[in-house]
Amino acid sequence: MMLEQSNVMIDVHLNTQDPAAIKEEIRAGLFSTPRTLPTKYLYDDQGSALFERICESPEYYQTRTEHALLKTVADEVIARTGTETLVELGSGAAIKTRVLLDAMARANHLRFYVPFDFSEGIVRRVARELVEEYDGLQVHGVVGDFLAHLEHLPDGGPRLVIFLGGTIGNMGPEDALAFLSSIHHEMDSGDCMLLGAQLITDVARMEAAYNDAAGLTAAFNKNMLAVVNSVIGAEFDPDAFAHVARFNHDERWIEISLRSIRAQVIPIPELELALHLQEGEDLLTEISCKYTRGQVERLLTEAGFSPVAWYSDPHQLHGLALAHKP
Ligand code: AVJ
Repeated sequence: MMLEQSNVMIDVHLNTQDPAAIKEEIRAGLFSTPRTLPTKYLYDDQGSALFERICESPEYYQTRTEHALLKTVADEVIARTGTETLVELGSGAAIKTRVLLDAMARANHLRFYVPFDFSEGIVRRVARELVEEYDGLQVHGVVGDFLAHLEHLPDGGPRLVIFLGGTIGNMGPEDALAFLSSIHHEMDSGDCMLLGAQLITDVARMEAAYNDAAGLTAAFNKNMLAVVNSVIGAEFDPDAFAHVARFNHDERWIEISLRSIRAQVIPIPELELALHLQEGEDLLTEISCKYTRGQVERLLTEAGFSPVAWYSDPHQLHGLALAHKP
């Protein structure tokens, strides 16, 4: 129906990426130590669908915990921030987002929602669903890499920028600080930020969350190879790799890798090379940093924010930091 389209606008910034830069990013990662592939390629349409299923798996406690926590704090967050525009980085299926949209609706403050995600399919679907569910809501979706396309954040204050689920953990501490600083730079004085962080807890629980019995995380991880194959015409065989996820005690992050199950040579014609991997050699696809409250608040402060409130669940598995730009 055309009618529902009047409340929806979608900007797509993905095809504007320079093919040479994409190739160079992949090449540089493959030849760094450890060998790395860009994490964003986990989150194409297929990967995003798998991630939604991971979130519902019994082992993945994070989503449930944050969802329940948000329900207890949403009204307070909206009251303290006066939010009219909700901007969400890495919005995915926007399930938890609805908790905040409901609170905005209750406060009579619901105007704009800006989902920002790497998957065009999921941004379009979420936009369609939400304008149906929320009367008078305008959705301005942005499809892009939020590390590269942050300057495309639509206006409309007072804004609350949310970055949930602990996705900040995909960056190491230095990149996280640089990223929060650039978000801070794009925000107006008076805008607020709600940052979700996964907290350090017992190792068995953390590792189980990335090694679910149904094999969803393994499938999600291996899907990356299909994406890289289509992006640069490589010939990775997903069956030649094993999913590995373990806690790195020194770095305090979960490392998710694809381990070559045998010595192999992978042709990558577009890079004009062949990648030689030994048996047992890892390609790092994702890190997921675990934080303490002190670390999260320090990051926000160093990025220029003033902490406003800290919320956590009774088991201290997940934290939500509310901060504002002075
Ligand atoms: C979406 C980055 C928050 O780190 O827990 C879950 C990603 N990868 N299982 C996380 C993920 C495999 C997730 N984040």
